[in-house]
Amino acid sequence: MPRTCLVALQDVGDDKVTTLEGLGTVRNPHPLQKSFIEERAAQCGYCSNGMIMAAKALLDRNPNPGDEEIKNALEDQLCRCGVHNRVVRAVRRAASVLAK
Ligand code: FES
Repeated sequence: MPRTCLVALQDVGDDKVTTLEGLGTVRNPHPLQKSFIEERAAQCGYCSNGMIMAAKALLDRNPNPGDEEIKNALEDQLCRCGVHNRVVRAVRRAASVLAK
C-alpha cells in the first residue's frame, strides 16, 4: 500500500480512496478504531491514522495475521510514543472481532 503522502491525487484516477474517517463513525466505530481505543494504542495519536489504515489493508488481505505479519505490515509507521506493543494487540483484537 503506497503512502498517501507519496501519491499525487491525479495518480489515483478512478480508484476508491478510503480515509480513517471513512472506516466508521463515533457511534459505530470500525473494529480497528474500537480496538485502538480499548487497547489504548494511541498516546499522542500522531501515528494512529497510518497505523489503523495500514492495519486495515493488512486485515483486508490477511484476516488472521500473526504478530510478525502485523509488525511487518506496520514497520513503516513510525511511532515516537512507543505504543507498538499496544498497536499489535489492537490489531489482533480487531482481527478477532472481524472473524466472528
Ligand atoms: S501515539 Fe504518538 S506517535 Fe504514535
